[in-house]
Amino acid sequence: MTDSRAMNSAPSITRLADYEAFPFAIDSVDLTFELDPTHTRVTQVSRVRRVVHGTNALELNGKDLKRVALKIDGVEVQSDRLVEIDETLLVRQVPDEFVLEVVTEINPEANTALEGLYLSNGMFCTQCEAEGFRRITYYPDRPDVMSVFTTRIISDASRPVLLSNGNPVSDQHLPDGRREVFWSDPFPKPCYLFALVGGDLAVKHDEFVTMSGRRIDLRIYVEPKDLDRVDYALESLKRAMAWDESVYGREYDLDIFMIVAVSHFNMGAMENKGLNIFNSSCVLANAEAATDQAFQRIEAIVAHEYFHNWSGNRVTCRDWFQLSLKEGFTVFRDSEFSADINSRAVKRIQDVNFLRSAQFTEDSGPTAHPVQPSEYQEISNFYTLTIYEKGAEVVRMIRTLLGPELFRKGSDLYFARHDGQAVTINEFVAAMADVSGRDFTQFMRWYRQPGTPRLRVDVSHDSQTKQLQIQLMQKQPVVASGESHAHYVIPVSYQVIDQVTGAVVVPETLFELSDESASITHDGIATNPVVSILRGLSAPVKLEMDRSVDELVALARFDDDGVNRWDAIQELYMQAISGFLKDLDSSIDDALRRLICDLISDPAKVADPACLAEMLALPQDNILWDAFQPADPQKILEARKALRQSIARAGASSWFELYEAMRVDGPYEPTADAIGRRSLAITALGYLAKVEPIDDLLKDIDASASNLTERYAAYRIARSDAADEVSLELSEKFLNRADTDEVLDLWLSTEAMNEKTATIDRIKELTSHSRFAWTNPNRVRAVLGTFANRNVRAFHTPEGYRLLADSVLKLDAMNPQIASRLVMPLCQWGRFEKGFQDAMKSELRRMIAKDLSKDLYEIVSKSVD
Ligand code: TRP
Ligand code: ZN
Repeated sequence: MTDSRAMNSAPSITRLADYEAFPFAIDSVDLTFELDPTHTRVTQVSRVRRVVHGTNALELNGKDLKRVALKIDGVEVQSDRLVEIDETLLVRQVPDEFVLEVVTEINPEANTALEGLYLSNGMFCTQCEAEGFRRITYYPDRPDVMSVFTTRIISDASRPVLLSNGNPVSDQHLPDGRREVFWSDPFPKPCYLFALVGGDLAVKHDEFVTMSGRRIDLRIYVEPKDLDRVDYALESLKRAMAWDESVYGREYDLDIFMIVAVSHFNMGAMENKGLNIFNSSCVLANAEAATDQAFQRIEAIVAHEYFHNWSGNRVTCRDWFQLSLKEGFTVFRDSEFSADINSRAVKRIQDVNFLRSAQFTEDSGPTAHPVQPSEYQEISNFYTLTIYEKGAEVVRMIRTLLGPELFRKGSDLYFARHDGQAVTINEFVAAMADVSGRDFTQFMRWYRQPGTPRLRVDVSHDSQTKQLQIQLMQKQPVVASGESHAHYVIPVSYQVIDQVTGAVVVPETLFELSDESASITHDGIATNPVVSILRGLSAPVKLEMDRSVDELVALARFDDDGVNRWDAIQELYMQAISGFLKDLDSSIDDALRRLICDLISDPAKVADPACLAEMLALPQDNILWDAFQPADPQKILEARKALRQSIARAGASSWFELYEAMRVDGPYEPTADAIGRRSLAITALGYLAKVEPIDDLLKDIDASASNLTERYAAYRIARSDAADEVSLELSEKFLNRADTDEVLDLWLSTEAMNEKTATIDRIKELTSHSRFAWTNPNRVRAVLGTFANRNVRAFHTPEGYRLLADSVLKLDAMNPQIASRLVMPLCQWGRFEKGFQDAMKSELRRMIAKDLSKDLYEIVSKSVD
């Protein structure tokens, strides 16, 4: 791995401003793989043609490759024509048109970075995005070089399933006893969409008939033991295919669509053309082995990868600065899919909560960057919440400004105009501009400026003149650099209701704030108006608005926008936590107590259980740390607990009844309705456990539950609130029944976050568990990711920081992508009190003195001063 270390003193920076088109076209690429765990031989035969004159050097990329041969028109290129520096190989004096032949040898078994070709439980698989193809063969590893690929896979009989992109063409036995399968993908693609799989896999088949009547062969390949957990992903796939036809007019293009589940995977899943490769945790589910949340995640990710077939594959990115072109748009598409087939309000609340807690945090920290970055050291570090989630918010704003019909026209134009091309974010927005006649010049700042802008709102009402005034003012993000920000176009959706009756006084209206400030006036409003603003979070901004308890209570009771109803009660919780931070023995406002009682006391009146469950969930740590700076995470933890206890007491007489009323009988179904009821039932159970011992009830649920969601809830609640022996008993039982990796990870993560038992020693014990492996990212995330992100008590200590830093260093030698993600919690020192800051910074300084990967070096060096 030594060649992947960064030269710490001189990191090389790639800049958008330096972009130049590739001077050659590659008309076809024919690949042959002779699979072998330690010596796989790859032969590439490409037809290359110069398209820009004045250059006669062909620039290829390669990494960790053994070069066996490199020929032009059948003649080995002499070494004096080759210049190899880092990951580029320059072939000088090439003719105008030629056949390039490259033979390389690679070692999949030694590949723990999980980029390029590697082995996962004996199965060969690839991950080429963003720059993994260069670990397979010498090739221009950049998304604007699109070509038509064929793949020949040669293997012995131990791997009966041999897959690649496109359509299967032939399958034959070779004289030497090996087998050779041949795949051909007719659609030109960049090499990051190349994929290959080889192993002893089981398959489930299905079929989808497209809108034009074509029959598509659908297949999910998994390890044989997992075949009983593929049905839900297959059903989700068919729903996604139908949705993309009806909502975007997008039809699938090949005759076959395959999903493969692998155990070792750095991210969630990958949209390789016709051959999506998934982290097994994002495919496998059944009632006994997946929670409701896992079912919903699987549905969303299957859809996300499928939607990439158009937003990403048919139209791809010119360069990696355009990553959000495919990711932002595709996240927007998958969130709308989930909203359409489940509950729109709940999906939006969850997305807004995630954006605010995670993306806003990133956007105010040392790795903040625009949705379209202008430079990077390591592109793998830019698969971020900003590119994905904020990128999706920007697309959502475009739709809000255009309205759904024009947005669809813009999307149609974009796909028609750029089919088969590698384009930029500008071209996406240009299509939207062309169909609407709207000028997006100012709007483009959402793509180019980092940070979360703030929106200050001041409301005044005069009962004499019956005039309501809403003053809006946009303010710069609170960013460390303090550079000046140009004003955004902010779509501000609002509505006015009556504080007492909840009646709508001014119906939902969209105001576009494009200047620094604006004032909105409404006449004829006699009494008690309450403004519901940024409805559905109409823009990714931080709201600054002084709202009284009574106004917030009115919104929490009456607002017909689910996000704002949820947001209002969250704001009440923030005020309560602020009170507890001043005095742990203080008590919550009576109005909040009454609100909670009213929300839960009559189960028959609960219109949307899932929404109510979201309303009863407390603000996440990140949100509190942002609001109460400089933050003492341990004190905030205590304040949050005090609020949780107060809410539990406020509803003490109702929790059991609510739990009973919401329980779902009958066979398990992961429908939105059943998931919503279970989620409220479990929330009620959690609060109930805070006010009375329910050990027997928890044991009973554990013994009789028909599904993992309830059984897991009983275990989790027991772990935090039951008597020690019951807590331990349910933990052991849960582990004993954890016969899949996914259930094991639930156990590992619960053990790693459990405040009572998850000490530093316990975390170390978990990483020595017989089923733990440092080389498996899912295990690492379950233990160390959960520890660092969810176990405030143990992590936010000098020993906790040290444990994370040591783990990151250990991982960096095996898998730099995982190391550079895991280190993030240490980089957020800026929001904490000095003692915590110093301890975090000293770990970062200790790390930077070591020989780090390019990935980890970029993150740590940006985070330490
Ligand atoms: N394109 C993938 C997605 O969002 C992301 C991805 C999968 C990825 N695996 C990766 C990105 C490995 C970087 C490295 O759907
Ligand atoms: Zn994606």
